[in-house]
Amino acid sequence: MTQSDWKNFRIEIQGGVATVLVDVPGAPVNTLTEGVGAEFRAILESLERDPAVRAVVLASGKKDGFVAGADIEMLRDVGSAAAAEKLSRDGQEGFDRLEKYPKPVVAAIQGACLGGGLEWAMACHYRVAANDRKTQLGLPEVQLGVIPGAGGTQRMPRLVGIATALDLVLAGKTVKPKKALAIGLVDESVPAPLLLTIARARALALADGERLRPAASGVVDQLKKDPQATLQKLALEENFLGREVLFRKARRQLLEKTRGHYPAPVAALDAIQAGVEKGMEAGLEPEARLFGELAVSPVAKQLMGIFFATTALKKDNGTSDPSVKARKVESVGILGGGLMGSGIAYVTTNAGIPVRIREKDDAAVARAFAAVAGIFDGRVKKRSMDRLEKLSRMRLLTAGTGWEGMERVDVLVEAVFEDLKLKQEMLRTFETLNPRGIFATNTSSIPIGDIASASGHPETVLGMHYFSPVNKMPLLEVIVTPRTADDVTATAVALGKRQGKTVIVVNDGPGFYTSRVLAPYMNEAVMLLLEGASVEDVDGALTGFGFPVGPMTLLDEVGIDVGAKVAKVLHGAFGDRMSVPEAMGKVLESGRLGRKNGKGFYTYGDPKKKKVVDATVYDALPGGRRRKKIDREEIVERCVLQMVNEAVLTLGEGVLRSARDGDVGAVFGLGFPPFRGGPFHWIDAEGSARVLERMRRLEGRLGLRFRPAPLLVERGGGGRTFHG
Ligand code: NAI
Repeated sequence: MTQSDWKNFRIEIQGGVATVLVDVPGAPVNTLTEGVGAEFRAILESLERDPAVRAVVLASGKKDGFVAGADIEMLRDVGSAAAAEKLSRDGQEGFDRLEKYPKPVVAAIQGACLGGGLEWAMACHYRVAANDRKTQLGLPEVQLGVIPGAGGTQRMPRLVGIATALDLVLAGKTVKPKKALAIGLVDESVPAPLLLTIARARALALADGERLRPAASGVVDQLKKDPQATLQKLALEENFLGREVLFRKARRQLLEKTRGHYPAPVAALDAIQAGVEKGMEAGLEPEARLFGELAVSPVAKQLMGIFFATTALKKDNGTSDPSVKARKVESVGILGGGLMGSGIAYVTTNAGIPVRIREKDDAAVARAFAAVAGIFDGRVKKRSMDRLEKLSRMRLLTAGTGWEGMERVDVLVEAVFEDLKLKQEMLRTFETLNPRGIFATNTSSIPIGDIASASGHPETVLGMHYFSPVNKMPLLEVIVTPRTADDVTATAVALGKRQGKTVIVVNDGPGFYTSRVLAPYMNEAVMLLLEGASVEDVDGALTGFGFPVGPMTLLDEVGIDVGAKVAKVLHGAFGDRMSVPEAMGKVLESGRLGRKNGKGFYTYGDPKKKKVVDATVYDALPGGRRRKKIDREEIVERCVLQMVNEAVLTLGEGVLRSARDGDVGAVFGLGFPPFRGGPFHWIDAEGSARVLERMRRLEGRLGLRFRPAPLLVERGGGGRTFHG
């Protein structure tokens, strides 16, 4: 067998061990395709016959990853449920053969080992993982609307136990090597440079008939070590009744969480349960069948669409010219270390970039430090980071009340109070100190052009609009003016990606993209309250549609005062169709700011108790405490169409660069239900002609604010879609 025999693999045979390196040509990461599977099978067959080979190590030939999963384009293009089911059965069969292979096979895992990649590794006889930052293992299939289809739903519970398998598979969670070792997903976690050496040694030891895994210690020993976990495991997993309880509870929690919108986690649960109760073969059958059905389902199509959009955004420099290069960013300054500034400092130091914060007084400096440290502490507590890492990140942070250091930063992110004059003053001072530096404002509502008008170098000014809480929210909206230079845009985009964000670039305008499409949606929700709807009905209807929280809860979280401020700006910009219902003023006057002062549409007493609607809020609204029943469909139709139509307006006006960005922005920034794909995918799925007709009907009934966007008229008239 020679090197050139294989397209996707390299093989090195030495000292009785064949190291099989997966290296799919021309691709940055390995993915599993039918071709890779067939070739691997042929390799195993030929190695089986080779007397010089006593054992096999499976590893990756890529620097940065093991195998990232099945090729999702292949999945997207699969023609029918039957074809997808066949893909699954072929995968199952291939890994079954691997598991039964007569020579020991050890997986040496470094980098992403996900989906089909982990299923591959789980079918090996022993797993060694490199203990580094890049290595992660998991079965994230449900996030794409499918389930593990190559034995994953069967091998995972056998390796890690039922409860842990449910926890990982139903949510598509990934784990780091340390955790993977603790739960039994890998057998060893070793320093990265030793990975192949150790894997080869273990492969030979297995060939010599050594038992490498510590023999399962007796129940008494386990009880001594971890009494609670052992008792729980004995009570729940080791007997029929206990398992019933476990599965029933998981199913109930799942239905509560997904509200029936996401069929994949339920299917994964079905396949796991079948296998646990009736054995591997009985589990593989539903796994393949459900995989096939799900792969061609509308939900999977939308979730895969979002995946492709974010992948495309990763490669996008944010400008129309792909040759534009980002400037080097070696340090970042932040003005204002409040809620947003401290969050931005966290994501930046976490990316390994030194940060200097400027605050207005010593007390605020101390608060900023404590806030950043607090976010890192949370991670240490959750064990997603250790103390040493935290210290090394915190060492990148300095802060003070003066401007020292700002003359050297490559990018300055401004996050002081929302006040045009103050922001302009910050910009002027920065420019005199650092004329080359990039000034990025995190304003939530002031047009970037207004701030940039105070600048002597407007080409270096743009918006970097982060979302709260910055450490959790995945989106960054970069806002450019007609004068922003392309390399400045590319630099902000590249910085955002290093901070772990999905970045969209939009053109300047009131409310940019996200705040602008949110405003009419929120206004409509308030309008419904004024017509007599209850807070529960409005929130319930929209969470029923799939938003993570309803609009009234969102307003409480953002701050009713903040919401009112943004709404006012947009009313000023767009006139009557965005007029803010007057009663909102009354709600504010009654001293309600939302969660931050413990008084909003809901009561915020005991954090352990479920929050309830504060009925006294109705005293400020027409109709008082006697609310009217308004249909769920009416609530959803009006609020969602407001958001979606506004999104089409922003595309037509050129605020958005593409429908893709609008979908990603709404899903990651506003919680638009991912399984509906975003506003533009939603219109395409509903049919543009039908959406247009529904808008027209509402316009007739409720007036101007439902006038369809010209681009919707155009697309709807011809029944054309927004995505190709
Ligand atoms: P915040 O009030 O928590 O923080 C503002 C910080 O700026 C305070 O710590 C204050 O001491 C500091 N500051 C004020 N004047 C200063 C000066 N002259 N020099 C240095 N520091 C100064 O406010 P937050 O929520 O962090 O908002 C900051 C900016 O981010 C605002 O423009 C806001 O509109 C925007 N934003 C807020 C979001 C949110 O959800 N809170 C979301 C997106 C943007």
